[in-house]
Amino acid sequence: MRLGMDRSSWVIEPLTLPADLETILEIELASFVNPWTREMYLAELENHGVSFCYVVRDSSQQVVGYCSFWRVLDELHINNLAVAPSQRGRGAGTTLLHEVLREGTRLGARRATLEVRRSNEAARRLYERLGFSVAGVRQAYYTHPVEDALILWREDISHD
Ligand SMILES: CC(C)(COP(=O)(O)OP(=O)(O)OC[C@H]1O[C@@H](n2cnc3c(N)ncnc32)[C@H](O)[C@@H]1OP(=O)(O)O)[C@@H](O)C(=O)NCCC(=O)NCCS
Repeated sequence: MRLGMDRSSWVIEPLTLPADLETILEIELASFVNPWTREMYLAELENHGVSFCYVVRDSSQQVVGYCSFWRVLDELHINNLAVAPSQRGRGAGTTLLHEVLREGTRLGARRATLEVRRSNEAARRLYERLGFSVAGVRQAYYTHPVEDALILWREDISHD
């Protein structure tokens, strides 16, 4: 049995505090071989109405993960999703993405898309559980190591 936390134990909210951006950058560095930089996040945050970033906090208010996305017309483009390595497997990622889809619906999106490395089993399981399915492949899209990107879509995100 997995040691999980109840969904209600996680708090999901928009990124607002500068200190939280520092935590995001640490998690980003620990999670991706080509991490986004502070400048990239700051530029994203300037793009009001299109670019959004939500964090997930644990019961002591600590940021343990984040998800950044765009809302483009009726589509949600999920750019980044990561949870701190020590906090993975406890439901934070699932709860965060679930809330992001709800927020996307409130923002007027009807469907959602993202790209994932073919070998990223943890992420693929999470996405499949939340209704995403493979719609295409970008051959050798990623570097370090070179790997295909799977393009996933979830239709009708208003449907829980
Ligand atoms: C993907 C990620 C955000 C998931 O966050 P999380 O908080 O661990 O997610 P959850 O605990 O809600 O659920 C993870 C799911 O993956 C499974 N999982 C966890 N670790 C796994 C592993 N090493 N291999 C396979 N599955 C794994 C869990 O069992 C769970 O699935 P289940 O509930 O069906 O059993 C996190 O693993 C992460 O930050 N990875 C690195 C960054 C990344 O790859 N982001 C996605 C880029 S597209």
